[in-house]
Parts: sequence; structure tokens; C-alpha cells
Amino acid sequence: MATLFLIILLSAAHALSFALSLEIHYYRNSCPRAELIVKQIVKKHFQQDQSVPAGLLRGAAYALPTGRRDGNVSKIEEVHLPSPYFSIQAAEAAFKSINLDVVDLTTLLGAHGVGFCHCGLLNDRLYNYQGTGLSDPRIPPALLASLKQKCPPEVVLPSNLTVDAKIFLNQATSSPFVLDSSFYQGLINQKALLQLDQDLAYTDLSLKWAKRFVRKPKRFIHQFSKSMIKLGNVGVLTGKDGEIRQNCRKVNKDTSTSSKTLP
Ligand code: HEM
Repeated sequence: MATLFLIILLSAAHALSFALSLEIHYYRNSCPRAELIVKQIVKKHFQQDQSVPAGLLRGAAYALPTGRRDGNVSKIEEVHLPSPYFSIQAAEAAFKSINLDVVDLTTLLGAHGVGFCHCGLLNDRLYNYQGTGLSDPRIPPALLASLKQKCPPEVVLPSNLTVDAKIFLNQATSSPFVLDSSFYQGLINQKALLQLDQDLAYTDLSLKWAKRFVRKPKRFIHQFSKSMIKLGNVGVLTGKDGEIRQNCRKVNKDTSTSSKTLP
């Protein structure tokens, strides 16, 4: 996730001033070309592999406060991510615990307008919805047939995600690499893949926002930037807290106690 926030394009389409510890253009003095360099590297990798920006949410360009530092502890047992099988209420509670509300939840799940989903995560909706041995009746027949073809029962092994086939998360668009509000049209048309995403169509407030985003696609990008900034400030480390990793995939074990700041 840290990489995600770092790399999202930084052109100032929706400059938002948040009086938080991160800053817009934090590196303007210490490394004035930092944002440009990040942008160029993302562009280069995107040209080589279109699936990369799914994780980077290409398409939404907005000013993003920078200056975050890396944690000097990273433990898998401390990672508590909401499950795609959560009810809306459980997901809402998980978001509430980090000061995000249902509007943030509805908006951020719009990120599922890009990228891939492993077939194993659809297993129950396609073949054994709520233990019935049948499909989720909400899935439109044509979509169901196509999903079953791409994700036959014999290869959908939830326990074996690394070898599991992947399909586009957004079945309601012809441009699954561009972040836009098509995800919301998809869920209104019962085409969202993840159960939690589809369930957004079944609570008044999330449905109201979904419809609003369909009517006003720019509103989605604007709200998305706001919610991403809120999410990006959860537990953020700044100043002399944490560290700056030599390799962003792992902590600087030997140097984690020393204070490293940018010049
Ligand atoms: C309640 C919260 C969330 C749940 C339960 C959830 C669940 C999932 C699941 C199950 C997948 C498919 C993963 C796979 O099969 O490999 C996925 C993919 C994805 N999610 Fe989420 N997600 C949540 C929130 C978010 C947020 C907040 C963002 C970003 C703002 C996000 C962005 C993405 C993206 C871009 C992908 C596609 C990844 C790829 O193509 O490799 N998700 N999510």
C-alpha cells in the first residue's frame, strides 16, 4: 500500500489542502525532481506491463501529500485487512476503526474498477452461494456463463491463489486499466465480482453514492482523492519517526535505530 500512495501520479488536478503532517510537494527543496522521477518510472513500467498500474490506480491524477516514512517493524501477523466476504456493516466497522466512513468505503472500493481478481475468490458466488450448491442469483445469466467459463470449478481452489487464474475485477468496462466510475455502473447492473463490492448496491447510502458517481464521474475522482488522502494518513510516520528503507520491501534491520532523514 505504501508504494501505491507513493506512485500515484502527482499532477495537481485536485489540489487539496490538508492540515496534516504530510505536505503537498514535501520534497520541493530536498529533491525537487522526486515527483517527476516517480511519474516517469511508473510510465516506463506501464508501457512494459499494463497490469502494473492496477495497483497504482492509473487514471486518477491528483495532488498527494508526501513526506511519509517507512515503519521499522513489518509483521504479517499485524496486518488485518478486511475480507471480501465481509458484510457492508463489518467493512464499515473496520473502516470506522481507522476514522474512515461509509462514503470513504464506497469510494475506495471504486478502486476495484481496475485490476484483477483470482478465480478462487469467486468460487462460492459461482458454484456454492451461501452453501446452496448454486450460483449467486444476482449475477446476470450472460455474465455468469462467461465467468464460469473463465473460472471452471476444478481450477478454483481458494487455498491455491498463487496458481489460480485471474480475471478483470471490473466486468462492466472495456478499459479495465483506467480508474473511472464504471465500477459503479457495474454494481448497479449486478456485475461486481466481489460479494462486498456487489453489496454496496444494497444499502441506501452506498447506493446513493454509487448512483451519484455514475451521474458525475468527476465527483468520483474528486472524492476518491479525498478518501485516498484520508486513508494515506492512517498511522502515518513523519519527521524522525520510522525510517527510510534502503529496500522498500524490507526494514533496515541493522540501521533501524539510527535516525535517517532526507537532507
Ligand atoms: C474493504 C476493503 C477491501 C477489500 C475487502 C478488498 C478486497 C480485494 C480483493 C479480494 C481483491 C482481489 C485480489 C486478488 O485476487 O489477487 C482486490 C484487488 C484490488 N484491490 Fe481491493 N479491497 C479493499 C479495499 C481496497 C482499497 C481501499 C483499494 C485502493 C484504494 C483497493 C484496490 C485494489 C486493487 C487496485 C486491486 C487489483 C489488484 C491487482 O490487479 O493486482 N482495494 N481487493
